[in-house]
Amino acid sequence: MCGIVGYIGELDAKEVLLKGLEKLEYRGYDSAGIAVRNEDGITVFKEKGRIADLRAAIDTSVEASVGIGHTRWATHGVPNRKNAHPHQSATGRFTLVHNGVIENYHLLQKAYLKGIQLASDTDTEIIVQLVDLFVSEGLSTEDAFRKTLGLLHGSYALALLDREDADVIYVAKNKSPLLVGVADTFNVIASDAMAMLQVTNQFVELHDKEVVLVRKDGVTITNLEGTVMERAPFTAELDASDIEKGTYPHYMLKEMDEQPTVIRKIMQAYTGEDDALTVDPEILAALNEADRLYIIAAGTSYHAGLVGKEYFEKIAKIPVEVHISSEFGYNMPLLSEKPLFIFISQSGETADSRQVLVKIKEQGYKSLTVTNVPGSTLSREADYTLLLHAGPEIAVASTKAYVAQIAVLAVAAYVTAKEKGIDVDFDLKQELAIVANNIQTVIDRKDDLEKIAEDYLKIARNAFFIGRNLDFCVSLEGALKLKEISYIQAEGFAGGELKHGTIALIEDGTPVFALVSQKAVALNIRGNVKEVTARGANACIISMEGMAEDDDAFILPKTHALLTPLVSVVPLQLISYYAALHRRCDVDKPRNLAKSVTVE
Ligand code: F6R
Repeated sequence: MCGIVGYIGELDAKEVLLKGLEKLEYRGYDSAGIAVRNEDGITVFKEKGRIADLRAAIDTSVEASVGIGHTRWATHGVPNRKNAHPHQSATGRFTLVHNGVIENYHLLQKAYLKGIQLASDTDTEIIVQLVDLFVSEGLSTEDAFRKTLGLLHGSYALALLDREDADVIYVAKNKSPLLVGVADTFNVIASDAMAMLQVTNQFVELHDKEVVLVRKDGVTITNLEGTVMERAPFTAELDASDIEKGTYPHYMLKEMDEQPTVIRKIMQAYTGEDDALTVDPEILAALNEADRLYIIAAGTSYHAGLVGKEYFEKIAKIPVEVHISSEFGYNMPLLSEKPLFIFISQSGETADSRQVLVKIKEQGYKSLTVTNVPGSTLSREADYTLLLHAGPEIAVASTKAYVAQIAVLAVAAYVTAKEKGIDVDFDLKQELAIVANNIQTVIDRKDDLEKIAEDYLKIARNAFFIGRNLDFCVSLEGALKLKEISYIQAEGFAGGELKHGTIALIEDGTPVFALVSQKAVALNIRGNVKEVTARGANACIISMEGMAEDDDAFILPKTHALLTPLVSVVPLQLISYYAALHRRCDVDKPRNLAKSVTVE
């Protein structure tokens, strides 16, 4: 959460910073600010609201070629101008942007800053005040920065400007993402390479607790002991067009439309020279050796994990537990003798999942990250990585990453089964090719789905999603999609469970979306639909060819029974999208949310 950028060079820093922040807005969008330094000193602009509000508030006559910027998702202190970054020390000498959470900020304030009147309610301000304090006690800025870092407990990506030295931006990170972008006549920093693709595609990875001095003509990285670290830049394999909306009104729509291509890309990426599906042999060995898999994830990725469990159990015959990451780390169940941990995370930065990874690594267990972002924290810190190949997902509501996660888990389970000599009675590659076409068929029927959204949800206060077996997993995801972007209260339920209490909420007209794609339980779920319609519910049945009945609202093309989630989720995504549009919600940036949740 929160995105930071910095620029030091010859161009107009304001424009590079603003463009960078626009690309990072997915990380937080309740307030934003920049600070630029020129011969007159440091000027700070900040505003509550979006980057567009900040842009409007900037005095364009201020020229500077050094600066830092921030887009915020509030953790400490309400989203307002006062709490927006950058923050300055009481003397005005130091200016700082921060992404992360400083857990011991109260203790530090009491221990060091008693006499200082704070200007904000943020944890961040403590950091900049400490640097100023230590400089006033005689340390150089670099030493004061280093000393301050040594006192911080928590997560941070930081960029600091010193009014007395125009030539350097002081940078550090711990558990929060941060990259340095390099070029001949300037250097930049950013929480995500995407933000600085506008000026460079060469980036240097930073490690936790390093102290980095970014100058116009060079970057110096030192470790905690002060030893200089040499690190070659890497090329960000991103195409600027991947991160543009193009002619689409919303990223979410673009990303849903990309889903057939994503499935095809995954098939390509995981096909070996013999034309068969393949996975890195080391990963296969780890999966094979495990006596139980522990899938750890949050939100949509957790929902993908529930489907993944079915694949590993049914196809590869390995027992699996799926856990919500924020629960697992603080309440670990009894583990098996040879567990393998699988972290599913689109961003690869989710703090809830990372805290589990840190703990299981301390206990010596192996881990595999399934992520969309190569080089992300979870990818770097796990033993192995499987990439999603979905391309950047920018809309806050995850769509293409969810189907990519499920497809990659299917590939991993399938190849593991083959490796184990298990007789698998279907050709996954062939079935995934059908899935890609089937997703396209659903996408081509957007008008029908828009009409369903209007008919069932236009005036709804709440909605239920029901299904059994794999359809239950997808109903959880359907409900999450609807609530997060349309703010209609929505819950996903196992079809048989509603009658154990929640059916009390069914009134005349309550929308209930029922998925019918699993033959073995098709009659049972239709029975559950009868129970709710008898109590006035407005049931919308989404069934699969071969199981459809006359009054069903939408019929999905026939898909392999294990792969139905890849197709059945698509109408639910699109219905949610249109329901949100009808309510004039900000589809790509729903309230209170951010794309990358880097706080616990
Ligand atoms: C919902 C959504 C979130 C994320 C969750 C985990 O649409 O995107 O629920 O799935 O915050 O994020 P990652 O997958 O990045 O770990």
